[in-house]
Amino acid sequence: MINDKKVLFSAMQSTGTLTLGNYLGALKNWVNLSDDYECFYSIADMHSITVRQDPATLRKRARALLILYIAAGIDPQKNCLYYQSQVSGHAELAWILNCFTYMGEMSRMTQFKDKSAKHADNINVGLFTYPVLMAADILLYQTDVVPVGIDQMQHLEICRDIAMRFNNVYGDVFTIPEAYIGKAGAKIMSLQDPVKKMSKSDDNPNGSIYLMDDPDTIIRKCKKAVTDSEGCVLYRDEQPGVKNLIDIYRSCNDLTVEQVVKEFDGKGYGDFKMAVGESVVSVLKPLQDRVAELEKDKAYIDGIIKENTEKATYFANKTLRKVQRKVGFPDRIR
Ligand code: TYM
Repeated sequence: MINDKKVLFSAMQSTGTLTLGNYLGALKNWVNLSDDYECFYSIADMHSITVRQDPATLRKRARALLILYIAAGIDPQKNCLYYQSQVSGHAELAWILNCFTYMGEMSRMTQFKDKSAKHADNINVGLFTYPVLMAADILLYQTDVVPVGIDQMQHLEICRDIAMRFNNVYGDVFTIPEAYIGKAGAKIMSLQDPVKKMSKSDDNPNGSIYLMDDPDTIIRKCKKAVTDSEGCVLYRDEQPGVKNLIDIYRSCNDLTVEQVVKEFDGKGYGDFKMAVGESVVSVLKPLQDRVAELEKDKAYIDGIIKENTEKATYFANKTLRKVQRKVGFPDRIR
């Protein structure tokens, strides 16, 4: 608990171009949680280098992501927004947790299997222990709740296992975190292959709507979305393309599945896709305008980064010192 509130932590990688999946599955759900929780939202730039990055681009993207957090409505006075690489406790705790994690556990991770298949020429140890760094991110703040999309559930499970294992040896050191999955948008699928998740690393750009896509591109991608020959807007597994578009539409408009199905009863896919495209534009356009505005205010953004990094460091070090003491590292001489 911090200030009598439960602690909430989440993060996004500053890799690639963020998609509508990242927004509806994660970012959108983060807004306003600070009313009930003490929130930490990190930019996971250390996770990003598990695949090769161009340094200048990575730096630019990290800042763009921080701006995007604020543009999405996450108030930097009430939420702690910072770069993972600037709070050294993440790396230090990750090392300790590495020593409490088994090779077998890591090699079972779906994301590791996917990414090592995709980057066969660079299966580095960082990629392998990626979930341990993620566990360190979460445990460092004594986090109660972690809002993520469904694709991150396996990593959260392993984080819980590591924390319980550590607690079994050393007593109640870590809070055991719970996942927090949003109602709609928990898994937005590719528009071109709706059995695959919408992903920043998709080779087909028509499969993903990027948060910075202009309105014409968004509408075009929605119109091109793969559906089926059933011709009715119903929420069923047999119609994965339509189901995904319903999820996007209801998430953008805060509606239930029933409301969407009723609204499009008797209407064709053409009308439906157009409505989906327009809804996405109505959500992303204001976000893009706000990003453009914030980008101009360098001093304001720099001030936020400085203040929030100090805050994150303070809380991170509290846990880290405790853990270091438990495992037997020497006390610091003041
Ligand atoms: P990342 O950067 O891949 O994704 C960020 C968030 O977006 C969600 N998401 C989706 N949700 C719905 N539909 C989709 N198609 C979709 N694609 C992505 C993800 O579930 C995630 O919530 N390892 C993490 C970042 C991370 C982290 C952490 C998260 C680092 N440390 C600690 C939570 C706690 C990642 O790569 O997310």
